[in-house]
Amino acid sequence: MGKSSKDKRDAYYRLAKEQNWRARSAFKLIQIDEQFDLFSYAEPAKCTRVVDLCAAPGSWSQVLSRVLIKGESFGRRAWVERMERFRNQTGPQMDLASEDNLAAVTKSPEMRGSAASVLNPRPNVRIVAIDLQPMAPLEGIIQLKADITHPSTVPLLLRAIDPDFDQHNETHRVDLVISDGAPDVTGLHDLDIYVQSQLLYSALTLAMKVLRPGGKFVAKIFRGRNVDLIFAQLKPVFDKVHIAKPRSSRASSIEAFVVCEGYRPVKDWTPEIGDELNILQPTVQQLASSETSTRHLRQDGTVELHFEDEETDPRRWIAPFLACGDLSAWDADATYKLPEDYVSLPPVQPPTAPPYKQAIEHRRAEGGAYGRTKSRLRATQEDVT
Ligand SMILES: C[S@@+](CC[C@H](N)C(=O)[O-])C[C@H]1O[C@@H](n2cnc3c(N)ncnc32)[C@H](O)[C@@H]1O
Repeated sequence: MGKSSKDKRDAYYRLAKEQNWRARSAFKLIQIDEQFDLFSYAEPAKCTRVVDLCAAPGSWSQVLSRVLIKGESFGRRAWVERMERFRNQTGPQMDLASEDNLAAVTKSPEMRGSAASVLNPRPNVRIVAIDLQPMAPLEGIIQLKADITHPSTVPLLLRAIDPDFDQHNETHRVDLVISDGAPDVTGLHDLDIYVQSQLLYSALTLAMKVLRPGGKFVAKIFRGRNVDLIFAQLKPVFDKVHIAKPRSSRASSIEAFVVCEGYRPVKDWTPEIGDELNILQPTVQQLASSETSTRHLRQDGTVELHFEDEETDPRRWIAPFLACGDLSAWDADATYKLPEDYVSLPPVQPPTAPPYKQAIEHRRAEGGAYGRTKSRLRATQEDVT
């Protein structure tokens, strides 16, 4: 498959290169922000301190850097500005239900404006990004190469957020924790979903260590059959839990994002990596043991759902699902025709240490992929002589 056929098949891959993002995932975060105002500028929810977990190659960190440090306009702010421009042109009585008006707001270049036209940087921004893989440097981002599932990462993170951090005087200080963590998928769905959920629990544990009360947490999930249990476990520690599917995430993929708002720290409890499920366990037990509950925990750990009486039973709760990104945004599953003179751009940031590099080196050392190669041939000749 050539570069331009991928550009045709994946509009967000092409756009990411055109707009200088390191990965197409940048659009997922921007579209989630459009819906949930993650990078709010308004007090008291003003967002200035963020942790980006599983951050390589760094497109989410780029979004953070450009929105918070440089003050560029993307996501919710860009949408609000577009609406203001439209209202100024049409008057306050505009009818957004009309298709023409909606198209004018979402599609016309004058309404879209330039992301960098008015810069609105914030003071005292602190952004920490963590990944197992090395990541090329990014302006204003503190980078850690660490495993989010390992307990030794916790003090590294706390110190990176605040160099004067005092373990005995722990205060929660981060406004937002985001995690786009994904394991190397094996194609065995159950295994992939399990490993993904372990990354999510580690991300949640780290988030609970650093978030301020009222803070937000966004993390990638795979919508498997026990996903309902995950929602039930997030609900006790956050005021609101939503499932978001950005338009840039392919409909055919089981990927979605939990968006949790209004963190409520648990009194007298410090979460630790490895035992993170313990605190949330009562929720599971409640679900399983209650006779009147319309949910039951099956032996395999999944929750069985019944849909009657949802209004009257407070334990019955299904996370609301929201698609985000405006309707005129590119469709991640569509194939687009490119102009005749279209030139495919190179990637913004080639991988620094991709796992396949080692495999290629091994293969070269072994003499190549196909048949007898020079080195093997030489070895055989040496054996013969
Ligand atoms: C989909 S990529 C993240 C893309 C990133 N959000 C961006 O916008 O560029 C998933 C990342 O999760 C990282 N990851 C997987 N398991 C991890 C772990 N245990 N600790 C830290 N990072 C991990 C991988 O190294 C990979 O870079």
